[in-house]
Amino acid sequence: TTRVILDTDPGIDDSLAILLAVASPEVELAGVTVTSGNCPLADGVRNARNVLALAGRSDIPVCGGVSLPLIRPLYTAPETHGESGVGFARPPESPAPLHRENGVDLIIREILEHPGEVTLVAVAPLTNVAIAVRKEPRIINAVREVIIMGGALRADGNTTSLAEFNFYVDPHAAHIVLESGMPITLLPWDITQHIILTQADVDRLNRISSPITRFIADATRFYIEFHLAAFGFAGCSINDPAALALAFLPDLARTEPMHVAVEYTSELTAGKSVISYIGPATREPDAHDLTGYDTARWPPQWRHAFRPAPNV
Ligand code: BDR
Ligand code: CA
Repeated sequence: TTRVILDTDPGIDDSLAILLAVASPEVELAGVTVTSGNCPLADGVRNARNVLALAGRSDIPVCGGVSLPLIRPLYTAPETHGESGVGFARPPESPAPLHRENGVDLIIREILEHPGEVTLVAVAPLTNVAIAVRKEPRIINAVREVIIMGGALRADGNTTSLAEFNFYVDPHAAHIVLESGMPITLLPWDITQHIILTQADVDRLNRISSPITRFIADATRFYIEFHLAAFGFAGCSINDPAALALAFLPDLARTEPMHVAVEYTSELTAGKSVISYIGPATREPDAHDLTGYDTARWPPQWRHAFRPAPNV
């Protein structure tokens, strides 16, 4: 099994990533950490806790981390994820006791306690990861892999024409993390925008009636309506589960080592990720960037993920 920490801003696709993690026997989910992004921190913590409670996995710690981006004001995405962060879903409040550890400290403690073993899957603005790197640089060499969903390398962004949401919300944090020297696999919006869950997929899933499938249906209905209005197709891109899957199915990805930098000084281009190609501008690679993702092998994993938990 792969020991995973999932850093999130739940978020509809973040919630699906949490469900995929707990439904995958290949994953040992050591903790879910939360920062602000799709919704403010407190809402994200509540959503992560509720999703884990639905899956019968309240034993997994949910720890809120940093509550605001490093420099920029918080920018949330209620039009994409709903006011609550989980679309039309209204899961019951988790009865589990709160975990008091800060998310940043959970990231540091886990990585240092299990050197070379922890895969950090970061599917939110990189604020928690950046602060963890600054607070305890020893994690840079101790982490096994950091899989990041973020950036728009060669494609248009989804938040501005240049920038993808996670890098746009905290470009300074993205800069710190990309420059850190950690072993990074970067799954950009270029790829994930093509990894689509359709209404038909959701309907098929709903033939199994469980609190989890109802949650997925209610959350994704909002997300699919948004995609229809914004992008003109009846489906939603499942960015964050696609990143989580790489923790235990690395062969899904085709990668190339590249140098990626993030623009953080200019207001208009904030969050734009830039690759060095050739010539004097070329710098040492800082990440394995995905240039392909074998979506044909994704659906079986997806069905597997939403096998209802035995105790619901
Ligand atoms: C990313 O931004 C968020 O809205 C999603 O949860 C995902 O992590 C996609 O750009
Ligand atoms: Ca996210």
